[in-house]
Amino acid sequence: MVKNMKILFFVILLYSFCSFTLKAQTIRLDKLDLTNMECGWGTAQANKSVEGNTLSIAGQKFEHGVGTHAISTFLLNINDNGKRFLATVGVDDEATNKGSVEFFVLGDRKVLWQSGIMKKGTASKIVDVDISNIKKLGLLVTDAGDGIDYDHADWCDAKIEMTKDVSLSSQLIKRTTQKAYISTPKTSDHPQINGANIFGVSPGHLFLYTIAATGKRPIIFSAKSLPEGLTLDPKTGIITGKIDKEGLYKTILFAKNNLGKAEREFRISVGSTISLTPPLGWNSWNCWAGAVDASKVEAAADAMVKTGLINHGWTFINIDDCWSIKPGSKDSLIAGDARDKNGMINTNNKFPDMKALSNYIHNKGLKLGIYSSPGPTTCAGYTASYQHEDQDALRYAEWEIDYLKYDWCSYGSIDTNQNLEAYQKPYKVMRASLDKVNRDIVYSLCQYGMGNVWEWGAEIGGNSWRTTGDISDSWSSVSQNGFNQAGHEKYASPGHWNDPDMLVVGLVGWGPSLHPSKLTPDEQYSHISLWCLLSSPLLIGCDLSRLDNFTLNLLSNDEVLAVDQDPLGKQASRILDADGKQIWIKDLEDGSKAVGLFNTDNNKKTPSDYFSPGNSNIKELIIFKASDIRISGKFRVRDLWRQKNLGIYSNEFSIKVPYHGVKLLKITPIK
Ligand code: GLA
Repeated sequence: MVKNMKILFFVILLYSFCSFTLKAQTIRLDKLDLTNMECGWGTAQANKSVEGNTLSIAGQKFEHGVGTHAISTFLLNINDNGKRFLATVGVDDEATNKGSVEFFVLGDRKVLWQSGIMKKGTASKIVDVDISNIKKLGLLVTDAGDGIDYDHADWCDAKIEMTKDVSLSSQLIKRTTQKAYISTPKTSDHPQINGANIFGVSPGHLFLYTIAATGKRPIIFSAKSLPEGLTLDPKTGIITGKIDKEGLYKTILFAKNNLGKAEREFRISVGSTISLTPPLGWNSWNCWAGAVDASKVEAAADAMVKTGLINHGWTFINIDDCWSIKPGSKDSLIAGDARDKNGMINTNNKFPDMKALSNYIHNKGLKLGIYSSPGPTTCAGYTASYQHEDQDALRYAEWEIDYLKYDWCSYGSIDTNQNLEAYQKPYKVMRASLDKVNRDIVYSLCQYGMGNVWEWGAEIGGNSWRTTGDISDSWSSVSQNGFNQAGHEKYASPGHWNDPDMLVVGLVGWGPSLHPSKLTPDEQYSHISLWCLLSSPLLIGCDLSRLDNFTLNLLSNDEVLAVDQDPLGKQASRILDADGKQIWIKDLEDGSKAVGLFNTDNNKKTPSDYFSPGNSNIKELIIFKASDIRISGKFRVRDLWRQKNLGIYSNEFSIKVPYHGVKLLKITPIK
């Protein structure tokens, strides 16, 4: 009897155990660890849109779901335990009218469901698919073939019905396994003068230029024929002063140490155009975003000097959003009176003394940039310049600011017209205000390309203009922002630059926590090469105080930077875009050409391709003829990353280019 009781007890126990583990269950997507969900911009959010708002599709709000951004992939290990996948999908209402995406559900690489192209305002679509007998469930959002700008995509009320109560794991598609490799030889101990060899200043305005030179310290600097009004500090190489008379002044700079002496011609153009070469510097946004404060900005300036980046021409230290008061905030660090009794803008408590910070930066031979919006508030909701433009320009001059990024943000609520006049107006207003102050301030327009800003940015007095939405550290974002510049070259010239957004190398993360750029090393070489070919402003977006050797090497190749800083100011044009290969060519002042050969691999792509890791071993042979790059006869080829001559060629040249990688060459015709 007792024995039978025992058996019965075990049977009951076994039954309840089995029924517990085998019990069907439903797992909400937002409950899963989303770290492995890849996004083309930002990071996937549980129960929020990618920008952190309530999930909303065509006016319909959702409490649960996942907000992501194309191109987005998520691979789940279902292991034959799935029943159904259910969701309601669409473009989030926070996207502008540009967003267009396509959702796919894949089972073991086969498309089980696809939404067709969806845009902002398209009514949500219901997904209800059978996922039994599949091992891997793939959730994909593509850019619908027109680029990823504003592709905010929501998987709302998304859930996976399982046959058993098992945990569900996701899998990162291993794209970033390539080891960092350094291409550029160390700089020599012999002195070498780097950086821009032309510099523009307005007559009578303060001149500040630091001679960028590598080589063993101490270096003694000197100059021949320095125009009257300027003085050079021989120990630091900092040139300051004022020149009253317009004109082009030719000077020779010297840098000497105990190993030798370098000299280089340096032209000073005194006139109405500044920023004669694209600005080189750092900006706080891609690393710190809202977590920026004065000490982080000082740390960036310290690192610019300590790492030696300043010796390669890197100059600007730019504070992005979040330095002013945030109206309505309860946080004492950012709350307070937006302006003083005279209407002059106040800083928040994270920037207790902007003038002192400015002095700190200028004393190092660097320059300070700031950020505002023509609307009442910035994109992050901090006080901006609307109806205070003159006062803000005055304030910037008082703080000795050298660069202003002026970001559209909330201005859309002031003027809802979507025409050229409306797009230009606020930028003209701030231009007029900047013109009233006695200081050169580089004027950077940021409005993401609205109204084809490249066609009129120069005309309304911009020194640069953002041509794209915000960049992210993904290949889809970088390749889209960069390669989409084709055709914009005719609008760039000295003082007027297309800006495909800041650099995403090193430790980035939009603060406070940072991660190493998700771009592979080859993708980073492509990123920097392309931005230099594009004569783009180069604004490093990472934490400079924790710069690794690979990133430092990437940012300190003088021959590569010289492509960006070439005084001719010609932006590269694209001469080939086929089969995942691109060739870009940029005319240089000395008669040579910088040529970028890219293996973009952007052309394939069936839905299942998005779940394949890129094969960094696959190299593509890229060939060009002399006539393709508009030269004839023999030519010398130099690999700029390796700073190595590859030889003399005639007729044509070919080389293998790694996956998502680049060969950046200087081609010099031989007479
Ligand atoms: C916009 C800009 C970014 C950055 C943020 C700050 O998104 O495009 O570069 O300045 O605003 O809020």
